[in-house]
Amino acid sequence: MVKDKLRVAVIGCGRMGQEYLKAYTTYPDTEVVALVDTQPERLQAVGERFGVKARFATPDALLHSLTPDIAAVVTPVKYLKYAVLACAQAGVKGISVEKPIAATLADADAMVDECSRRGLILAGGNLQRAMNEVQEAARRLQAGEFGQVVGASVHAFGGEISGGGCQHISVLRLFAQAEVEEVLAWGSPSETLMQDHDTGLSINGVFRLSNGVPCQVFGAATPFRGVEVWTDQQVLVRWDWGPPEIFAGLDGSGARKRLEVEYAPYPWSEFGYLTGSIRSLVAALRGEGAPWVTGHDLRQALEVAIACQRSAQLGNVPLRLPLADRSLTLYPSPYRWLGGDATGLVQSTAEAAGKS
Ligand SMILES: NC(=O)c1ccc[n+]([C@@H]2O[C@H](COP(=O)([O-])OP(=O)(O)OC[C@H]3O[C@@H](n4cnc5c(N)ncnc54)[C@H](O)[C@@H]3O)[C@@H](O)[C@H]2O)c1
Repeated sequence: MVKDKLRVAVIGCGRMGQEYLKAYTTYPDTEVVALVDTQPERLQAVGERFGVKARFATPDALLHSLTPDIAAVVTPVKYLKYAVLACAQAGVKGISVEKPIAATLADADAMVDECSRRGLILAGGNLQRAMNEVQEAARRLQAGEFGQVVGASVHAFGGEISGGGCQHISVLRLFAQAEVEEVLAWGSPSETLMQDHDTGLSINGVFRLSNGVPCQVFGAATPFRGVEVWTDQQVLVRWDWGPPEIFAGLDGSGARKRLEVEYAPYPWSEFGYLTGSIRSLVAALRGEGAPWVTGHDLRQALEVAIACQRSAQLGNVPLRLPLADRSLTLYPSPYRWLGGDATGLVQSTAEAAGKS
């Protein structure tokens, strides 16, 4: 028996919230003590499925009744800020949000700043940056094992540059150990450029990173869809939605040679990168390290996405980050912004109960 389990509340018990529940109800040192959802039948079905009796319709009702150690906020994006601020103001020590963190920069700032001011941890959600293998490759890069990073590229930065693109930006910043400092972008197709959401918008461009490294951005697959960094020792690390590949040196024909990398196995790998995200948050709450995805990471990803759209709209103008205008907004897809119930992709009660 592990003593003093961390008490967890999951706010938003839809498809993604249920993934959090599978993980949090399996770990030996966490206990799910409460659920919040606005949809009563789903709330009941999920509560019975995971054996959680304390159920609430709003974050306020939860916080009036108890203060968990961790609040996993997994609502549609529109409602993340309210829940995060309510939890922070109630003194919840560890709060996680899903992606993207917000549509408006000022909202992301409000969440990050409120938690920081109160000394609380704001962690990110189910992001590939939190894959154990991505973290291991990043540790090797950071240790200088492969030399100095001198170049980077982003591939297939299109379709959802805010909703899904935060995966790319979070891995890029981790591998390059730098912030995106300047964005120069072209957007297509032209009819998507002036819309207020990111659906279908594809970005080509160039980022300049804070360590001086240039990063080419490709809207389409090349055929890769992720992030590459390369070093002054002819090593290339490629993340393409899976464990990173590492190439070192060139073969006789001048092609890069792929290394056989054996990543260390890790417990609870059945929950994928959610495990890295949650376990690093749990460790951080116990005073060991920092979350592998933070609210800051998610805010930076939103800011880069907004800067891309803005640069392209203005006629490929280079924009420096941080952006001065914090009212800038880029909505994710309607599904992410409002959730399945509001956009015709309802999860049935039977499915929420784990019966279909
Ligand atoms: N990281 C990933 O891989 C990934 C994948 C899918 C979705 N997401 C993100 O997860 C979040 C949820 O997506 P989903 O697929 O679970 O959506 P969903 O529509 O299946 O579930 C959302 C749930 O939140 C509830 N809800 C709505 N408003 C609420 C509120 N104010 N308070 C409490 N509960 C509320 C709904 O009733 C529903 O049960 C979104 O932010 C989305 O962008 C992330």
